Amino acid sequence: MESFNYIAGTLHCENTDIKAIIEKVGSPLYLYSKSSFEAHYNRLDNVLSKEKIRHLIAYAVKANSNLSIINIFAKLGAGADVVSGGEIYKALAGGIKPSKMVYAGVGKTAEEIKYALKSGIGQFNVESRSELKKINNIAASQGMTASIAIRVNPNVDPKTHPYISTGMKKYKFGIPLEQAFELYKDAESMKGIRIKGIHFHIGSQLTDLSVFNDAAKIIVEFLKKLKLSGIMLETIDIGGGIGIKYLNDEVINLDSYAEIAKRIVSVYPEALLICEPGRFMVGEGGALVTKILYIKDNGEKLFYIVDAAMTDLIRPTLYHAEHKIIPVTLKNGSGKVTVDVVGPVCESGDFLAKNISIDRMAEGNLIAVMSAGAYGFSMSSHYNARPNIAEVLVDKDQFSVIRRPETYKDLIKAEV
Ligand code: LLP
Repeated sequence: MESFNYIAGTLHCENTDIKAIIEKVGSPLYLYSKSSFEAHYNRLDNVLSKEKIRHLIAYAVKANSNLSIINIFAKLGAGADVVSGGEIYKALAGGIKPSKMVYAGVGKTAEEIKYALKSGIGQFNVESRSELKKINNIAASQGMTASIAIRVNPNVDPKTHPYISTGMKKYKFGIPLEQAFELYKDAESMKGIRIKGIHFHIGSQLTDLSVFNDAAKIIVEFLKKLKLSGIMLETIDIGGGIGIKYLNDEVINLDSYAEIAKRIVSVYPEALLICEPGRFMVGEGGALVTKILYIKDNGEKLFYIVDAAMTDLIRPTLYHAEHKIIPVTLKNGSGKVTVDVVGPVCESGDFLAKNISIDRMAEGNLIAVMSAGAYGFSMSSHYNARPNIAEVLVDKDQFSVIRRPETYKDLIKAEV
């Protein structure tokens, strides 16, 4: 599933020369491979089908919410995992059926709940007793019933970065199992509520299946207890979190992942399994392409100062995430140097990589920050009044701009 390859010394996305795209659209930009996105969806779809699991892949829109990308998954039959009214709006606009949407998030507002109900989303993944009451009140007052799953917190350590861990009690997400059981019982008598399922999500960038397995064991025990008490579930939502390769990451075996999923769903064999991958679907199929503006040697360190910044890709700054960085045009024989790749923003934390070994390059050369399709553009900001950059989708030897680069005018359009 390699979507980025060198052909005659120049990096290509599928069959398209990246240099040629930059000449037309300008630098920096996000570049995505359509076939990579489709291949990842199909791979997951296939392993779940092989286990004969009736399933719905609800793409976690937060990873990359560009409409054209959502639409690729909509056409493949995907649903969406959404966490805000804005994401519901974008998922609808991208062509996802509302009945295939699952709506999580610890702080749903009354307006968002109304909007979700009106849109006819598949289920609310409820994160607290107060939220359940609010959903019940709103739905009942409109003569509607809201389908819900309770997001349980199995309290296992996902062994990933603390900022992207969720399934432990020290984090704000979900409801502890001992409280969740009571809540299911109480929900049974709420007029505006229809119990539809269960949800858990223990964390993101999981590279060790044993933690998912630990969570699965806990969930299976809980499901047995629920079933015994007479609660019937139609959906079992196992969250997202499948890790991808950035540098030296191990990736999990998808067949084993599907086997674990099968074990969970077997407590309610009629139930629909929902999974919510984000990063797995779009991470490896995206790259951030940026130009070296200046090369600066301060006697102690060498800096490649590029035209992309933490405003475009904040993962290195926020999580010390390490992305592979490679030249767009190979510089054979130029030797290697150790550099920090930094952006123009007025923060020392504005870096895309630190102390990496890369070809000795020249000002004006292009580099590509790999595995940047997930949580790249979607986490971008306007800090330092930087317009957001373009997004380009490649389909074999064709490319299209799926988000134009913002202008200075865009920066002030909502302001007085
Ligand atoms: N479902 C729920 C309820 C989630 O909270 C998340 C991610 C997902 C699914 C999708 O997880 P994935 O399959 O993408 O791992 N910005 C961070 C990642 C934050 C993930 C938040 N929740 C990063 O750049 O690593």
